[in-house]
Amino acid sequence: MNRFHVGLGVSGGIAAYKAVEVMRLLQKAGCEVSVAMTRHATEFVQPLTFRALTGGHVIVDDYDPANPDPIAHINFSQGIDLLLIVPATANIIGKFANGIADDFLSSTYLACTAPVMIAPAMNTTMWEQPATQRNIERLRADGVHFVEPVAGELACKTVGTGKLEDVENIVSQALGLLTAEAQRRGEERGTGAFPEKGVSIESNDPRRLGVSAVNDDLRDERILITVGGTREAIDPVRFISNHSSGKMGFALAEAARDRGAEVTVVAGVTTAEPPEGVRVLRGVSAEEMHTAVKGELERATVFVGAAAVADYAPVNAADAKIKKEGKEQLTLELKKTPDILAEVARNRTNGLLVVGFAAETNDVVGYARSKMEKKGLDMVVANDITREGAGFNSDTNIATILTRGGEAIDLPKMPKRELADRILDEIVKLR
Ligand code: PMT
Repeated sequence: MNRFHVGLGVSGGIAAYKAVEVMRLLQKAGCEVSVAMTRHATEFVQPLTFRALTGGHVIVDDYDPANPDPIAHINFSQGIDLLLIVPATANIIGKFANGIADDFLSSTYLACTAPVMIAPAMNTTMWEQPATQRNIERLRADGVHFVEPVAGELACKTVGTGKLEDVENIVSQALGLLTAEAQRRGEERGTGAFPEKGVSIESNDPRRLGVSAVNDDLRDERILITVGGTREAIDPVRFISNHSSGKMGFALAEAARDRGAEVTVVAGVTTAEPPEGVRVLRGVSAEEMHTAVKGELERATVFVGAAAVADYAPVNAADAKIKKEGKEQLTLELKKTPDILAEVARNRTNGLLVVGFAAETNDVVGYARSKMEKKGLDMVVANDITREGAGFNSDTNIATILTRGGEAIDLPKMPKRELADRILDEIVKLR
């Protein structure tokens, strides 16, 4: 089985040293990694570090006499399955978005036909600049994948969004994209490390972590779960979203993992940490979540929609920040987002079990039952989000489980992790 080949591009930010860890994790997962750096990146990390660990020449400059390949940007870009940029500065994002090719990495991007994934890291003000956000939107429209930076303390001692996402998450998403692309092309591809499962990374693989399933009643299941809230852009700085933390969906992922299932999560915006031992893909908007789910569905035996997906998104996200001067009122035109859960249920094949959630504020069971019928679900977990200790962002939940043709199961307040097991018990019974 062919191994995946990742082109790792490193640009010049303080987080450049974390690219070494990304490279190491990709190698541990069985990928072959070739490294390219911008000249500024070499101010932070020596090319020798990457050369020693990959055994290959690290390209900074096409025209360097030491470069063994005279047309390296073409050969490098054509031989890889993924171009992964870690960290990506505002400058390299700007060059990619505008087709500027004035160094090795930007020329490689232009010459690349493989998928591209970018993990930005920068100061919050630079991240929030309309120019940066505009460039990101343009690249997204061009099909580039982003691993969004997270909030935290930055090198400049300020606190805000701009910190590089955890390296494990970056690698997990890169591996997820490689597998999804290989499946789309109908290829039998793996990393060499865990060929029987496609791809995984060491720190996220339950067998390597020593996480063993005590009750492995889900060992034959491949569970796909949507988690968290979605974010629908109004303009480069504003969005529509909701309060979902991802705690409920991640609790389900963890419980299913512990019961022996192979778990893939498609997460929107989350504040909770994903559990180890599950594959995490990101789909920040409803549209992106929809695309990620479609790419994963074929392998799944159970689908659970725990995400709070926005029902509506702006018809056209503005390219530039909307100015408030002279406007006492602003009307947003919204369009319906794809109903992921309904579509999954409608197109199900091969005995796929489809489970939805219902976040309601009144007539909870009534609305939940009608959702189950209208969307053709096997099960609905209804939570009354107005109750203390239930719904968004709390560590506990209060739910009623409805199954097709079954009695309503009213559950008292309990930790989300415990509720996750109760939901999985009902899934096992439906089998
Ligand atoms: O993440 P937490 O902070 O832990 O909070 C947990 C939770 C409250 C988000 C969770 O328990 C929950 O109820 N999730 C579903 C929230 C929701 O959007 O409910 P809904 O009634 O609007 O949607 C019904 C179902 O359709 C859900 O399974 C939803 O994932 C799905 N849906 C909705 C709209 C859409 N466009 N696509 C969908 O797939």
